[in-house]
Amino acid sequence: MKSKILLVDDDPFTRRLFEDLLRDSAVELVTAINAGEARKAFDLVDFNLAILDQRLPDGNGLTLFGEMRALRPRQTAILITGYADVRDAVRAVREGLFDYLTKPFENLEELEAVIDKALEIDRAYREIADLREIISTRSGDPVLISHSPEMEKLFTQLRQAAPLDTTVLIEGESGTGKEVIVKLLHTLSERKQGPFKELNCGALSESLLEATLFGYEKGAFTGAVKATRGYFEEADHGTIFLDEITDMSPKLQASLLRVLQESTFVRLGSTTQRSSDFRLICATNKALEKEVEAGRFRADLYYRLNVVPLRVPPLRARREDILPLALFFLDHFNRKFDRNAGPLLDNAVATLEAARWTGNVRELKHAIERAVVVNQGGPIAATDLGVGSATVGLDVDGRESPEPPIPYREARSRFEREYFGHLMQVCGGNVSEAARISGVARQNVYVHLEQAGIVTKS
Ligand SMILES: Nc1ncnc2c1ncn2[C@@H]1O[C@H](COP(=O)(O)OP(=O)(O)OP(=O)(O)O)[C@@H](O)[C@H]1O
Ligand SMILES: [Mg+2]
Repeated sequence: MKSKILLVDDDPFTRRLFEDLLRDSAVELVTAINAGEARKAFDLVDFNLAILDQRLPDGNGLTLFGEMRALRPRQTAILITGYADVRDAVRAVREGLFDYLTKPFENLEELEAVIDKALEIDRAYREIADLREIISTRSGDPVLISHSPEMEKLFTQLRQAAPLDTTVLIEGESGTGKEVIVKLLHTLSERKQGPFKELNCGALSESLLEATLFGYEKGAFTGAVKATRGYFEEADHGTIFLDEITDMSPKLQASLLRVLQESTFVRLGSTTQRSSDFRLICATNKALEKEVEAGRFRADLYYRLNVVPLRVPPLRARREDILPLALFFLDHFNRKFDRNAGPLLDNAVATLEAARWTGNVRELKHAIERAVVVNQGGPIAATDLGVGSATVGLDVDGRESPEPPIPYREARSRFEREYFGHLMQVCGGNVSEAARISGVARQNVYVHLEQAGIVTKS
C-alpha cells in the first residue's frame, strides 16, 4: 500500500516542489492550502506523514501539529519553517515533532532522506501497534522481532524446523535472542502442550547436571533421599533445552551421546533402561565447530546436535532490527511501568542505530528500559539513552574495525559538528566572518550552528 503524505502549505511553489519530488515514489501526496483544509483531510485519512508549513494563512503549523497529536498520538510530522521560526521548531522537535526543514530547500536529496526516515519511523510504529494486538490475543507466546533480511531468513528456517522432531543447535553471541528462538521452536511445534524443560550447563556442577538430566534412585548418592525422575523422563512429549552446551564436561558429553544414539537411558543407581520421547534443542554463544577443532567438544556429539543449525547474527550485523526492537521495548516498558515515554526523537534513533551493541538485543532492551524509567513521560532524546555512538565498531566476527558504516544522517551531523565547531573557533565566534569563509548564507550558518548543538537559542 502506498504511504500517504499530507502537505499543508499556502505557497504554490512549495506544493509544486513536493509534487515533483514525490511524483515517482511510492507515495500518495495530498495537499492542503490552509489549516482548515488540512483538518478536513486529516479527519478522513490516516496519513503516514504530515508536512506542515509553520505560517499558514489561517493558523500555525505547530498548533495544527498539536491538534493532530491529540487525535492520533503517534502522528509523524515534519515542520517547514523560515529562519525566524527555528527556535519554535527546535522546541517542537523536543515535543515530539519528527524533524523540521528550513526554507528555502537547498538540498533535495536531504529533503528526500528526511521524508524517507519519517516514513520508516511511521511504519515501525504501525508494525508495533499490529504486533501489540497479536500479542494481546495470544499472550504468553514469545515474540521475535525479525525485520532485517537476516532475521527474516532465520525466522523462515525456524518455522520450517519447528514442527520436525530433529535436534536443533542455536549459535549466537550473548543477548542475540537464542532463548526466544528456543521457546518459539517449542511453541510452534506439536509439542506445544507438552513440557518444556531447560537447563544451563554452565550453571550446574557435573554431578548435579547429570542427576537433573538422568534422575536417580533412592540412595544413588548421599542426599538422594527418594527416587526422582530426571528431565529426560519429565520432558516426554516435550522439549529439553540445554543452554551453554559447550560447558558440558567430557564425561557428560559421552553420556548424552549415548542417550541420543540408543534412545534409552538409566537413572543413576539403576539398571532399568527407560525411554522417552523428547526433542533436544541446544544453544551456545561460542562457535561449536571451533570448540570441536580445539578438542574441547566431541566431534561425534557435535554431528548429532548440529542436525539443524540456526545462527543468530549479532545486532550490529542487522541494524534494520534496531528501530523496530527499540519501539517494541518502548511499548513493553511503557505498559509495564505504566508510563507514557516517547516518541524517540530523531537524534535518539540515530544514536541507537549507530551504537555498537556488544551486548546485542539484551543491551538495547536495558537501554530502553532505563530511558523509560528516567523519562517523565515525554519524547526520548539521545542523552536519555546512556549509549555511546560508534566511533570504533566491531565487525561481524567481533574484530575491531576502524570505521564501520553508520547511518548517513549521523555521519552528516558528526561532520557538521566538527566543521562548524572548527569554523567558529577560527572566526572567533564572528558569524559574518564564518559565513564569508564557508560560503554559507549568514542565516543558514545560525541554523547549522544550532543543529550541531554549538549554540542554543533559548
Ligand atoms: N528478536 C527479538 N525480539 C524480541 N525480543 C528479543 C529479540 N531478541 C532478543 N530479545 C530479548 O532480549 C533479551 C535477551 O535475549 P535472550 O535471553 O534470548 O538472549 P540469548 O541469546 O539467550 O543470550 P545469552 O547467550 O546471554 O543467554 C530477552 O529479554 C529477549 O526477550
Ligand atoms: Mg540465553
